[in-house]
Amino acid sequence: MSFEAPHLLPTPVRSPASPLLRVEGLTRHFMVSGERIDVLHDCTFDVARGEVVAIIGQSGSGKSTLLNVLGLLDRPSGGSYVFDGVDTTGLREGSRSRLRGDGIGFVFQQFHLLERRTALSNVGVPMVLSGVPLLRRRARAKELLESVGLGHRLHSQPHQLSGGEQQRVALARALSRDPALILADEPTGALDAASSTMIMDQLIEQARDHDAAVVVVTHDPKVAERADRIVELVEGRTR
Ligand SMILES: Nc1ncnc2c1ncn2[C@@H]1O[C@H](COP(=O)(O)OP(=O)(O)OP(=O)(O)O)[C@@H](O)[C@H]1O
Ligand SMILES: [Mg+2]
Repeated sequence: MSFEAPHLLPTPVRSPASPLLRVEGLTRHFMVSGERIDVLHDCTFDVARGEVVAIIGQSGSGKSTLLNVLGLLDRPSGGSYVFDGVDTTGLREGSRSRLRGDGIGFVFQQFHLLERRTALSNVGVPMVLSGVPLLRRRARAKELLESVGLGHRLHSQPHQLSGGEQQRVALARALSRDPALILADEPTGALDAASSTMIMDQLIEQARDHDAAVVVVTHDPKVAERADRIVELVEGRTR
């Protein structure tokens, strides 16, 4: 693992008109048993602050792969990815994880909640990493859980919650540090219509009121139609 001093993060190049993120000619392939699998061929699009973009496409079309690159969890094989004025392509791991921790919230297909922790504690985890004191952390976690309709489940552990409730805890956790970018992979996949509407309300509110960019992968036409814009992935290409 490499460590870098904070000043080594490149100076962001921002202008009022520049989008929060831009990918250009992005490609990603994997090697499996010596064979090359091309998943993303040519992805080009941008997302502005305050905007909600839905990514749609068939199963296996590369949506989660693309989201992992946008979340700086994975590196592209080619092309460029500029996030918040920083070209991430050549960045070392330390700088990437700092950008990720400070600016990106995730709601994954799997919820990745900590099993032996309560909902309140799970939502507080990202704030522990950024040094928010305990009382403030708990107050903020409680407020977020109430906003996703889980004010009555603050002390439940993941195994005591339904799939949809766990998904809502994951959303509250993603919002806890007020990230500039929220990446959500099928956030409403496990939910009934009412909870699904609530999750989308939250994501849209985060974009409008907190000036965040939201990228949401979905198979649900009702979710996609609430987005400001739809990016479709077809055979690894955006359109
Ligand atoms: N680490 C990996 N190694 C090899 N192949 C991979 C890897 N990750 C993904 N793939 C392949 O890339 C393709 C796209 O996967 P991805 O998970 O991005 O699809 P998706 O569009 O999110 O599908 P779904 O809607 O089912 O979630 C799949 O065919 C998958 O097998
Ligand atoms: Mg996927």
